[in-house]
Amino acid sequence: MSQSDCISSRGVGFLPDVPKFFDVLNDLWHPETNPEGIVNLGLAENLHVNPHALTYGDGFTGSKVLRKAFCQFLNRYFEPRIPVIPSHLTITPGVGNAIECCEWSLFNSQDQGLIGRPSWIAFNYIFGIRAGVQVREVSFKGLDPFCLEAVDEYEKEYIAAKKEGKCIQAILLCSPHNPLDSMNTAEADKRQGRYYSKQALMAYMRLCGKWDLHLLVDEIYALSVFENTEMEDAVPFTSVLSLSPEGLMDPRKIHAQWGFSRDIHVLTVRQDFGATGLRIGCLISQSNPVFLKSLESFSLFNFPSSLADNAAAALLMDEKFMDSYISLYHSRLEESYKYVTRFLKKHGIPYRKSNASLFLMVNLAAVAHVVSDDDILALLRKQKLYVTSASGYQSETSGWFRVVIAHPQHVLDEGLKRMQRALS
Ligand SMILES: Cc1ncc(COP(=O)(O)O)c(C=O)c1O
Repeated sequence: MSQSDCISSRGVGFLPDVPKFFDVLNDLWHPETNPEGIVNLGLAENLHVNPHALTYGDGFTGSKVLRKAFCQFLNRYFEPRIPVIPSHLTITPGVGNAIECCEWSLFNSQDQGLIGRPSWIAFNYIFGIRAGVQVREVSFKGLDPFCLEAVDEYEKEYIAAKKEGKCIQAILLCSPHNPLDSMNTAEADKRQGRYYSKQALMAYMRLCGKWDLHLLVDEIYALSVFENTEMEDAVPFTSVLSLSPEGLMDPRKIHAQWGFSRDIHVLTVRQDFGATGLRIGCLISQSNPVFLKSLESFSLFNFPSSLADNAAAALLMDEKFMDSYISLYHSRLEESYKYVTRFLKKHGIPYRKSNASLFLMVNLAAVAHVVSDDDILALLRKQKLYVTSASGYQSETSGWFRVVIAHPQHVLDEGLKRMQRALS
């Protein structure tokens, strides 16, 4: 099979531009650990606070240590079918960037990718602003977006696009989704899953195989799960990496992303901060080395800071810390969910049950004395409270708002107090 079968012609065009000195960085001489390696007298860098940090390190796609640390982490928490090894991944400055790498190298300008509504609005920028790839939204018309039947809606959109002469190249799933669906139908209430089930993921893989599409799965909230006693059959997290593509789709077309911006929070006494500023993400593509190679050509523009690289590696390598951190994180999410939902119940504000991610979808229109989402946002803003409306995420229903619950209690208290003031 030729290279152009699995990456775009634009991606193939990038291949000759991979910096020549990457081979050097990959095999650097060291008198004890690599005496047969290449002595680097070619690069103008000599600030040796630590031999590696503050230089070009191991290249622009993540240090060897961080790649190894990511493998250790992914193999421990994502249960990949084939153990992830360093050559299966590239490090990027964030998950948004990891997805943009896919847009650059797998697709051509004007190609389209399918994303279910509502969706994180920044996907439009990530796809389009530089790589010129278009988001094509999939509507569910009352169906729960996580159910098996929803897969048919993607196929219908694919067929409609084809008729229009558009080139659909991919499906992007976000598991769990951001924002959650805002439908309040009995159907959705029955299902209640917020991660895609194993069966649903396999159905998407089958669909991708049928139409020869790439499957991008943004798993940035993989660890953001918590116990929810309101949900009897909550769907657990299944990584796309854990599923066999055999008989379903071309394994070269499966690409997962994870990063530090959401699941990993830097802990202080009672405060959690998503580590968005660390700018470390990871793109895992276990069967497509040509794709990952093509990314090296423009990795200079995606080069994560080696200080952030070092910090991320130290966190991921510390299994004891990660285990205790993750269990503390889960219990704090559960605590926050209970806290906020108690308030919502008390004030008769409907919400969508969830067992994953940092958000709650709440129906403020049900209790507000104004009708439009913009008017509700204005009321909240007057009380200096910022939340986002689901219509801003192209939701099919109005009246719903996304509230981030992953805050310490005093922040939640202040926010909920202002919400109550705005709506009363
Ligand atoms: C679904 C989803 N993907 C990607 C990102 C961006 O992550 P990063 O900050 O690592 O680029 C976010 C951030 O909110 C997100 O919600």
